[in-house]
Amino acid sequence: MASTGASAGATPPEAADSEDGVRRRDWIHVAALGTAGVGGAAVLLPAISQMAPSKDVLAESTTDVDVGAIQPGQSIKAVFRKQPLFVKRLTPEEVAEAKADDAANMRDPQTLAERTSEGNEDILVTMGVCTHLGCVPLGAAEGENKGEFGGYFCPCHGSHYDVAGRIRKGPAPTNLEVPEYSFTSESTIRVG
Ligand code: FES
Repeated sequence: MASTGASAGATPPEAADSEDGVRRRDWIHVAALGTAGVGGAAVLLPAISQMAPSKDVLAESTTDVDVGAIQPGQSIKAVFRKQPLFVKRLTPEEVAEAKADDAANMRDPQTLAERTSEGNEDILVTMGVCTHLGCVPLGAAEGENKGEFGGYFCPCHGSHYDVAGRIRKGPAPTNLEVPEYSFTSESTIRVG
């Protein structure tokens, strides 16, 4: 039965033939599931694409965030253009730490002032997307690992970001992206 299925489809990897057949069976199952998955996707895709906003609409969409409720040392997660967004209110100690590190040797040098809005250096707005391969870093939720520099930590390959979201250790090439945003009131920002 299994050999019939295999001959009807693509040839399994040679490595599978050298073993006891378990890997060969696994491969057949994977191939069958893959085929079913393609069929399912073909049916679902038209419905999904009709519901999704057009690229133009998405590109111009904005997200409003009430930052007034964020306590010092707390971060919140929001969504901006379908991607995770982190908004953090730094404590006075974190602001001082970030400023003290402004002159440190960094891969992607940026000061805290360059990454925040004038007069609101305690509000850090960044995308929650690791600049290495796009995972969502930890550190925005209470109790999560903030990494060696007290900001965000991406466990996928070990990228450590500091309290200003600047890359300090690990493979990520650049700081967490700061999107365009502005304050629309004392306690509200509009991202986008
Ligand atoms: S995706 Fe974050 S370290 Fe690789």
